[in-house]
Amino acid sequence: MLQLEGVSLSYGSFRALDGIRLHAKAGELVVLLGANGAGKSSIFLTASGLHKPAAGSIRLEGQEIAGARPAQIVARGLVQCPEGRKLFPQMSVQKNLMLGSYVHRRDGTGNRQRLDEVLELFPILAQKKNDPAGSLSGGQQQMVAIGRALMGRPRVLMLDEPSLGLAPLVVKQVFDVLKKINAAGTTVLLAEQNAHAALKIAHRAYVIERGRIVLEGSPETLMNNDAVRKAYIGA
Ligand SMILES: Nc1ncnc2c1ncn2[C@@H]1O[C@H](COP(=O)(O)OP(=O)(O)O)[C@@H](O)[C@H]1O
Ligand SMILES: [Mg+2]
Repeated sequence: MLQLEGVSLSYGSFRALDGIRLHAKAGELVVLLGANGAGKSSIFLTASGLHKPAAGSIRLEGQEIAGARPAQIVARGLVQCPEGRKLFPQMSVQKNLMLGSYVHRRDGTGNRQRLDEVLELFPILAQKKNDPAGSLSGGQQQMVAIGRALMGRPRVLMLDEPSLGLAPLVVKQVFDVLKKINAAGTTVLLAEQNAHAALKIAHRAYVIERGRIVLEGSPETLMNNDAVRKAYIGA
């Protein structure tokens, strides 16, 4: 479904990604674990077309997308929910959601239908659809960010640390929703530092350190890996 091979990225003379090779099969929920600064966001920004890789191939359903324009990549079905949510706090919840449908702007009927589906998935957002997004709680704002990404009609959804800054109970709610989205057929790639919660819902996971994939395996394998436990689980 999504396949990165030999992807490298530099910021000036700094090599942030070095030969990244990873994939997500159709229907999989794949977790990308890594500490702050490991390169998780760089992978997503490169796959989204916001950074240009120095080398490598990025294929979405077999088609090369490395170097394609961001809007084109969204239109093909690879959609990112960015780190830090990036909402417009003054704008209403509904308007924030609709921004995600920009690449499908010619399909008003489809977008209204999609909005209904998103509001059904997040009943609290239906209640607050006319409120400014900035007035919602952190967890609700994360739901808006996820909902906005869904408005882009992803076949592959990349989520960049959606649990950041949320209380454990709220993290669980967010991850339950991701599980549901995945079960309904969307392939999910989830970048996290919260290994404990993320590995619980993952089918497969990678560990990234300093721009390189250092480990890949099942959630059980990684949970039982001493280095992983020490670095990300604290046990
Ligand atoms: N725009 C940028 N310019 C220069 N260096 C950057 C930029 N963005 C990220 N970096 C550096 O690249 C490395 C990987 O960052 P990032 O992909 O944001 O990691 P993560 O998302 O895993 O925390 C870090 O060392 C970070 O400081
Ligand atoms: Mg990041």
